[in-house]
Amino acid sequence: MSNEDEKTCNPDRPEGPKAPTNALIEVHGLCKSYLSGTERIEILKDVDLTIPRAVSLALLGQSGSGKSTFLNLLGGLDRPDSGDIFCAGENLNQHSEARLTVYRQKFVGFIFQHHYMLKDLTALENVMLPARIAGKSRGKSEKRATELLHAVGLGDRKKHLPHMLSGGERQRIAVVRALMNEPQFVLADEPTGSLDKENALIVAMLLFSLCRDFGTTMILVTHDPSLSAMADLQYSLENMRLLFKQDRCREPSTTKSETESSESPTREP
Ligand SMILES: Nc1ncnc2c1ncn2[C@@H]1O[C@H](COP(=O)(O)OP(=O)(O)O)[C@@H](O)[C@H]1O
Ligand SMILES: [Mg+2]
Repeated sequence: MSNEDEKTCNPDRPEGPKAPTNALIEVHGLCKSYLSGTERIEILKDVDLTIPRAVSLALLGQSGSGKSTFLNLLGGLDRPDSGDIFCAGENLNQHSEARLTVYRQKFVGFIFQHHYMLKDLTALENVMLPARIAGKSRGKSEKRATELLHAVGLGDRKKHLPHMLSGGERQRIAVVRALMNEPQFVLADEPTGSLDKENALIVAMLLFSLCRDFGTTMILVTHDPSLSAMADLQYSLENMRLLFKQDRCREPSTTKSETESSESPTREP
């Protein structure tokens, strides 16, 4: 990583065009299509979205509606056909591949349906991996990874290899691994999709509570209404458009999940 890359991805010293507001993420006129044979299939069309800092946003939508495509664009894993994505004032469109790599390391935590733990590394080493890739010091990384494992009730599983852990435990590791580098936001793409109901709830509650404690914005794709109900904001992808569904803080009468703390601060989109 060059010093230039380091500097341009520092949220305290943003460079280049600024987003019009100080929202964490701003999406303007986002379009994305894929080529299927000779046919171009539109997935996202003129999508606009503003995501404040420290909120949780649930993204709903039928299978194939473009949820993962949208998350991949926000996370700098793919590029749009047109439109802009600003994160903390940086325009992703203007990033080279190298700068996108730094952006992903510093800004984004990813959680997928599959845990993607490396099978020959212990739980602790897997959690530390993003810090290792980002070139962070081992001592500090080990301390943070250990604290995070304790926070999700896995302090005594540090030395376990992935095959020695249950599905729910592996997904809890994926949660803390995503938070290892103190990202600005977490993209969670159906993170509980492979779990039974009980473990899905445990993992989701840990995810919501850690993001709230760290002030980390979270975008969660889920089909589970009991999980999406925990989020501050709900949107749905339908017919290539992003539709606003609900803002719990502006509609206080909305039923909260029984499992959630009532301390969630008021936030506006
Ligand atoms: N790399 C790709 N090439 C071609 N088509 C793709 C690609 N990625 C996704 N698609 C298509 O785009 C649509 C949206 O996919 P996806 O974003 O994965 O949907 P969701 O996550 O909502 O289920 C699907 O029809 C899928 O087949
Ligand atoms: Mg998907």
